[in-house]
Amino acid sequence: PVTVFANEKEACKKVAKRIATLILEKNDKMEKTILGLATGASPIGVYAELIRLHKEEGLSFKNVVTFNLDEYYPMNPLAEQSYVNFMKDHLFDHIDINFDNVHIPDGTLSKEEVQQFCVNYEKKITAYGGLDLQILGIGRTGHIGFNEPGSAPNSGTRLVTLDDLTKKDAAKDFGGKANVPLKAITMGVGTIFKAKEIILMAWGSKKAAIIKKAVEGEISGEVPATYLQLSENVEFVLDEDAASLLT
Ligand code: F6R
Repeated sequence: PVTVFANEKEACKKVAKRIATLILEKNDKMEKTILGLATGASPIGVYAELIRLHKEEGLSFKNVVTFNLDEYYPMNPLAEQSYVNFMKDHLFDHIDINFDNVHIPDGTLSKEEVQQFCVNYEKKITAYGGLDLQILGIGRTGHIGFNEPGSAPNSGTRLVTLDDLTKKDAAKDFGGKANVPLKAITMGVGTIFKAKEIILMAWGSKKAAIIKKAVEGEISGEVPATYLQLSENVEFVLDEDAASLLT
């Protein structure tokens, strides 16, 4: 289903509320909450609201385990552009999560080590019983995670090559497209698909064209987000501008 909100702020509050409810329900059952998280501009408002819920309403993340979708490769976790740094800045440093429960693909591994790391990443998610909720943004290529056009529906966590448009969109963070890493480690489409619940968020008119394709277009590896049409557990959460081209 598609849910359209008047603006990004309202939408982010709603998504944060869903996450908070899930954490409380799981706490009641003495279970951990396994969250799949995204970086980028889209989820920032959700993380801000989760921080507010922690500070003002006592929401605890002590029983939360997180798996991030992706990380650039190669990438030093201490670098400003790393997704490790992003997550600390926008969420982890401001809540009571146990850092042992945080998982982000490791951009420091050698090429030889990456494959085993990816297999282990999948195994860890499975060992926790799978992702309860996966948060997604969408790239203008139609990527989810860094599953660029051409990704297979059953793909797992792996090393991928970034699309040219993705590097262009990341250029400002790296002081030019030439400085953007060529690759990334990303959960696969198949990894994402196994989540019990998926929320894809998009804001603003620059996402309207790709949202139209993702929601209404033919299902194809050329626009990996179209695979989400095949899942019954997906919600597209949009603001009015991102939804403006939907029929
Ligand atoms: C980030 C990720 C990407 C972004 C997408 C949209 O972890 O996996 O798929 O969600 O590139 O980025 P923003 O939100 O910056 O427009």
